[in-house]
Amino acid sequence: MGRSILEVKILKDYNELSLTVADIIEFQIKEHPLSKLALPTGDTPLGMYKELVKRELDWKSVITFNLDVYLMNVDHPQSYQMYMRGNLFDRTNIFPDHSHFPFRPTEAFEDKISESMGIDLCILGIGTNGHLAFNEPGSSFDSRTRVVDLFEQTIKDNSRFFDSIDDVPKQAITMGLGTIMESKKIVLMVNGDHKLNILNVAMNGEVTEYVPASILQRHDNVEVFYCD
Ligand code: PGA
Repeated sequence: MGRSILEVKILKDYNELSLTVADIIEFQIKEHPLSKLALPTGDTPLGMYKELVKRELDWKSVITFNLDVYLMNVDHPQSYQMYMRGNLFDRTNIFPDHSHFPFRPTEAFEDKISESMGIDLCILGIGTNGHLAFNEPGSSFDSRTRVVDLFEQTIKDNSRFFDSIDDVPKQAITMGLGTIMESKKIVLMVNGDHKLNILNVAMNGEVTEYVPASILQRHDNVEVFYCD
C-alpha cells in the first residue's frame, strides 16, 4: 500500500473544531440512523460531545464502540466508561446495550464489531507520541483489540486527570490499528500546538509503526482537523 500526504484542515479555534466534528457526526446519524461509530475520550472531544448533546439528535438506533479503556474499575471517576456516561450516553437516548467498550476476551469485542458489519465513522485523537487510541509507538499496523502497557509519556500526559501520577493505570485495552483502519471513514481531531510537531510527522513523514498515526496516510477516507 502506498502513502498519500494528508491535508490538514486548520480551524479557527477549539469551538470551530468541536462544531465541525459534531456536524460530521450529525450528518452521519441523520443519513444513516443505524450508524456504527467509534468514539474517543480525553480532552479534545469534550467540546464536540457538549455540542452533540445540545443538538438532541436521535441516537436510538446508533451503535457505538469506544476506542479504548483503562484496565481499572469501571466505576472509578476517571474510567472511560464514566467519561462517556457523563459526557454523552446519559444525556442522549442511546440504548445502554448499544454502547460497547473494549473488554476481555478481546476477540469477543472484535466479533461484536464484525457482527455489526463494521464501523462507519471513527473519530480519533492523537497522543503527543503519535499514538492512536492506546496503540503506542511500535504497535503493529495489523494489530487488533488487545491489552497493552501504556508508555511513560502517555501516563505522564494523562496524569493531569488523576490526583497523582501513581494513580494512572499502567495498562489498557485498545482497539488495534488494523481494527481502526477498517472503519469506512476516519476523522482525526487535533487541538493544541503541542501536537503540531507529531501531527506534521504523522501526516507528511514516513509511514512507520514508530509513528502509529502515520498509518492514516494509507486510508482513503480520512479528514484531519487542527486548531491551536
Ligand atoms: P487528549 O488525548 O485529547 O486528552 O489530548 C488524545 C490522545 O491521547 O489520543
